[in-house]
Amino acid sequence: MDAVLTKPRPAVRPRVNARELMEKLNADAAKLNFWLRTEMNAPSQRAWFTDTGGQTGGGELLKGGRVSANQLKAVPCHWRWKDYGPYLERISRIAAEADISPIKFADRQSILLVNPGLGGRLQITSTMRTAISVYVPRDKAPAHIHSANASRTILTDKGGYTNVEGERCECRRGDIIWTPNGTWHDHGNDDDEPVMWIDMLDWPLLEYLDSAWVDLDYPAAAHTEETVQRTVHTDGYSTRLYGAGGLKPTFVSHQRGWGNDPTPMIHFRGVDVREALERLKNEAGDPYEGIAMQFVNPVTGRSIYPTMDYRAQLLRAGEATQYKRETANTCVIVMEGEGFSEVGGERFDWNRNDVMVMPNFLWRRHVNTGKSPAVLYTVSDAALMRSIGQYRAQGKLADGTVTQIVA
Ligand SMILES: [Fe+2]
Repeated sequence: MDAVLTKPRPAVRPRVNARELMEKLNADAAKLNFWLRTEMNAPSQRAWFTDTGGQTGGGELLKGGRVSANQLKAVPCHWRWKDYGPYLERISRIAAEADISPIKFADRQSILLVNPGLGGRLQITSTMRTAISVYVPRDKAPAHIHSANASRTILTDKGGYTNVEGERCECRRGDIIWTPNGTWHDHGNDDDEPVMWIDMLDWPLLEYLDSAWVDLDYPAAAHTEETVQRTVHTDGYSTRLYGAGGLKPTFVSHQRGWGNDPTPMIHFRGVDVREALERLKNEAGDPYEGIAMQFVNPVTGRSIYPTMDYRAQLLRAGEATQYKRETANTCVIVMEGEGFSEVGGERFDWNRNDVMVMPNFLWRRHVNTGKSPAVLYTVSDAALMRSIGQYRAQGKLADGTVTQIVA
């Protein structure tokens, strides 16, 4: 070993500043892309089993010490239909009246929601991206394929379509249309009115994993002028195959796209979701979620995607859920009703078509303040957290006692 490294320390230590010397070394080493530890490892979060705070909003979340200075964390946030809706209308007018469709140069006509805690990144949580798209009559988005799992939740009453691997899915309000990773899909609007929907993708997660890709070279386009898929299965194919819960057809392949166990149920109808919730409205429900149901892959019974979990929940008139927090990020879409949610100490008064994000680890609850039911759709990364052994959930009773829901 080098003699310099083995030289013993002197009995009386010289009064030189070790940290300054270390920082000088650091300045020298920077060009080599390494860093000499000159300070303690700042914890990004306190332990789950302690009260981690987060009762208050984004600023407090940061000031309270839960998040160290150079880290980015999603904060609670609320996007109101009354704020974003007019922008969709303005985009529609440009799309209908200007020289070319914005789809030509921007690929999509959409608003991307940006979480203010994430430094301007196009994502609402560490794992999910949310866009709100509009397609005016005669719009067509060419067929493409990507590694991200995606969905669209339809806001407009009718109009527009998505074709997934040849299955034509006509859009109605409350429908969810899934495009599992590795499925060819194209979108468009053959109707008379603009169609609006909310896109959810696990794109930021795949970017982090360095496995985000898109292919726009639809194979059929090499031989024809076609940039969209031919319809192989008419509207309602998914429902005909898998719409009878508990019955699985045995004469078709359930593989769609290239993923592992992708959901073959491509299109779930809002009217069926609403009826299913209605049938259960007199049950006790869950104290933290009300009457809640999970969308599942009908073949495996697991979440729709390994990365994203989709649910629908009904809150009865006046119903207030108890506080809950979980190790998952959740995006909420208000499909019906009015009320408010408290997320990390912030109150969001919501109405139809509003979107909220409830970041990982923050106490939250929902209150239906209306005289009729409220219906919320949620998309979360709970499926991912569960599969890597990191999912936990706690509830809080009225007296402040914290209970373990999933320990
Ligand atoms: Fe896509």
